[in-house]
Amino acid sequence: MAFKSISAEEAASFIQHDDVVGFSGFTAAGCPKAVTMALAKRAEAEHAAGRPFKIGMFTGASTGDSIDGCLSRAHAIKFRSPYQSTKDMRVELNNRDAHYFDLHLSELAQYLRYGFLPRPRVVILEACDITADGKITPTSGVGIAPTLAHLADIVIVELNKQHPKSLSGMHDIYEPLDPPLRREIPIYSPSDRIGVPYIQVDPKKIVGIVETDFPNEVGDFAPLDEVTELIGKNVTDFFVSEIKLGKIPATFLPIQSGVGNIANAVLGALGMNKDIPAFQVYTEVIQDAVIDLMKKGRVTFASGCSLTLSSAALKEVYDNIEDFKKKMVLRPQEISNNPEIARRLGLIAINTALEADIFGNINSTHVVGTKMMNGIGGSADFCRNAYLSVFTTPSTAKGGKISAIVPMVSHQDHSEHSVKVLITECGVADLRGLSPIQRAESIIENCVHPSYKSSLTEYLKLGVKGHTPQHLGACFAFHAAFNKTGDMRNIDWNQYK
Ligand code: COA
Repeated sequence: MAFKSISAEEAASFIQHDDVVGFSGFTAAGCPKAVTMALAKRAEAEHAAGRPFKIGMFTGASTGDSIDGCLSRAHAIKFRSPYQSTKDMRVELNNRDAHYFDLHLSELAQYLRYGFLPRPRVVILEACDITADGKITPTSGVGIAPTLAHLADIVIVELNKQHPKSLSGMHDIYEPLDPPLRREIPIYSPSDRIGVPYIQVDPKKIVGIVETDFPNEVGDFAPLDEVTELIGKNVTDFFVSEIKLGKIPATFLPIQSGVGNIANAVLGALGMNKDIPAFQVYTEVIQDAVIDLMKKGRVTFASGCSLTLSSAALKEVYDNIEDFKKKMVLRPQEISNNPEIARRLGLIAINTALEADIFGNINSTHVVGTKMMNGIGGSADFCRNAYLSVFTTPSTAKGGKISAIVPMVSHQDHSEHSVKVLITECGVADLRGLSPIQRAESIIENCVHPSYKSSLTEYLKLGVKGHTPQHLGACFAFHAAFNKTGDMRNIDWNQYK
């Protein structure tokens, strides 16, 4: 090998307290693992010796336990961006032991290039192959790796045997020029390739290769239940009727589908309905449902930033890699989530809300307004720019004690201006062309769980005047009740009359 082989511990020794470090990958796919585990041990040893050790970190999106989990437990993070989704990291952020700034995923690479954020000095990239002149083939996720490779002084490569070298050809690496030189990104169809299949790194920056054999850390998806099945059915029925009405072209449009169990279930349901033509996917995470639907011929092409697949689904892809390479492409998130492309391709965006309000605003991130769940991810990259933007959510959470639909969202990520359709297991509220009061009536009628319908109807009758009848004294009554009693039911609205 042209580069020095080093241990994970040696690699970790290149990172110092207060360094800014960048990691390849997107979700737990394509992230380094060995060096970060060694780094966490080093941080613990430094702390035990009474010395400070914390890093600032940038990743594509969430990572697996070997990065976010280990570094959080070692209290080794000073700041972090963007999306995260591990329990330990959540604790760290919500205790404000680490500073977290949530960012639209399409923006992170350019923010780093523009100098809006601290420049990563050290970068760790997971690869399945590397050439002597520094051409790196990423593994199952790309994220912001191409930009990190340009900006860093030091590059460490984790060469992970779990990913076959034959992945070469799956990636399409393209970095746009920055303004005022930026041109259009020439993707006119999800399958267009515009870049090269590798990340070019200046070989002089590569301080060593750490050889690893760690599996991906993507968890399995939850099986379908009655609620997710009904949400999937409602989404599908809605799209079928939109095609019949001519509001969606009969050939259908590329789908962007969000992260998590619900998104995976919705996509699965959509693919199974034969009234919807086989379709293409232009999204950030390619989850299990896409692979299943490809095998059935229902998804004809998928463009994404990562293969966020269970180990069984990833094996399926790797066992049939040549076939899947014809039907898939992995891009940097700056391209997979690019607003220009979302608008041009006319994506149908389906994302999941944590909470929605009766006027159509969405909270994707904050539990009861204060605790960070995961982050905004790419949801706004897509929702604001899609042909049609749909949000789904189960109508209740925590056994019915929480209504996912509230008078006013306790934190706002997506506004009424971007959200076009809200779908729960109860039904569909098509918000296009409706005034605030009409939106509220439609959402209460179609989406709210029966156990909260009369309460939200009473809220609307509090007699507030104005275009949007939001009662500023009562709009957080659901949340206040939950904080006090652990239950949003049984609000006495008389106190606000
Ligand atoms: N208040 C409090 N907790 C709530 C809640 C609410 N209104 N709604 C859901 N929850 C809880 C659930 O009970 C569940 O808790 P648990 O993990 O303790 O069981 C958790 O939130 C996740 O909910 P789940 O129903 O399993 O949904 P999911 O796995 O589909 O995730 C989001 C939903 C919103 C958290 C997830 O989609 C997300 O992070 N979205 C933001 C980013 C995004 O949209 N990216 C896609 C762009 S491509």
